[in-house]
Amino acid sequence: MNTRILKSDNLKPAIDTLKNGLPVAIPTETVYGLAANALDPQACSKIFQVKGRPLDNPLIVHISSLEMLKMVVKTDSNGEPIIPPPLVPIIQKFWPGPLTLILPKGDSISPVICAGLDTIAIRFPSHPIALKIIEECGFPLAAPSANKSGRPSPTTASHVMTDLKDCIDYIVDGGSSSEGLESTVLDVIHTPPTILRPGTITLNQLRPFIPNLEIYQNPLIGDKNKGKDDDDENEINDDEMDSSSSFRPISPGMKYRHYSPNAPVILFRNKEGIEEYIDDKIKSGNSIVRLFNQNSNNHSSLNVKNIIMSQDGNVLEIARNLFAALRDADALNPDFIIAEYIDGDDEELAIMNRLSKAASEII
Ligand code: TXA
Ligand code: MG
Repeated sequence: MNTRILKSDNLKPAIDTLKNGLPVAIPTETVYGLAANALDPQACSKIFQVKGRPLDNPLIVHISSLEMLKMVVKTDSNGEPIIPPPLVPIIQKFWPGPLTLILPKGDSISPVICAGLDTIAIRFPSHPIALKIIEECGFPLAAPSANKSGRPSPTTASHVMTDLKDCIDYIVDGGSSSEGLESTVLDVIHTPPTILRPGTITLNQLRPFIPNLEIYQNPLIGDKNKGKDDDDENEINDDEMDSSSSFRPISPGMKYRHYSPNAPVILFRNKEGIEEYIDDKIKSGNSIVRLFNQNSNNHSSLNVKNIIMSQDGNVLEIARNLFAALRDADALNPDFIIAEYIDGDDEELAIMNRLSKAASEII
């Protein structure tokens, strides 16, 4: 199969392919998604095959109008979608946008999509090309991030090409994703209401609507003084293909290893110690790529290359560039990638969540 990139003025081949039950990669404002007809379980199975995704990790379903909710979530006796009341003002404010809501699953949705759960993750993206494709298809699209499982999520068409070349027919090119991190996943169905995955819509933005909202704390970043204990049953370090973990999260995807470049990522809690660590590694013949959250005028050398994610440490810019930085770092083929923490409890949480999952070691 020869994978082709389509420009946004030539969507027909992508729409026809989706209508024929085959997956296509599409742009969204968060990351690129590997889309298929959410009402066709066979089409959705192909997503799992192409990505190498474990079958127990459910997919997010994308809609292009509130009207489409009826097709995917549980409905009342009048055929209206059942929406938990706290979500009504949240939907008004944040949809379309980078927020995924966990809702009761509609009866016609195959267990393939939801990995057997009785809930379904729904997202109403704001990207005009994604919306146009869903609208023209006339059915909702299941779409996880369009990377091979375990790799950093793609934020450009060429990232998708790197991972899925010859595995799918089309990648629709919508430029660089403006958010750069996957959507915030919000679950108010279970108690307490929880952000299952932090994103660029933050706890602080959602708390006014849900005062008792909690954020799922990755134990590795929840407490900076805590190390990776061997007996920590919440250790999120399983290989994506290994479903033997005893960890039982509410969001199945949490137990899998994510976002990992080929080279090990070493994440430092504090800047102290980084230089010494790098010196040691270089002395023993290793090469390093160092990711900087802001420009600190460090010079690259033969064995240490620098990638600056934001000149002035702008958090939204770091979020936008993080996955590309991990992929760019890999392209330099280093022995180690060094990254460092960002303090803060807003968008910073989403960045630290992704970095700590990408990390092989946290020092
Ligand atoms: O921004 C995004 O959300 C991107 C773009 C393409 O829309 N999609 C995305 O999908 O990140 P994916 O499959 O890579 O991540 C979906 C996450 C996984 O962690 C999965 O376990 C969780 O959502 N999820 C899906 N259905 C769920 C459900 N019913 N209950 C709890 N978590 C669920
Ligand atoms: Mg993903």
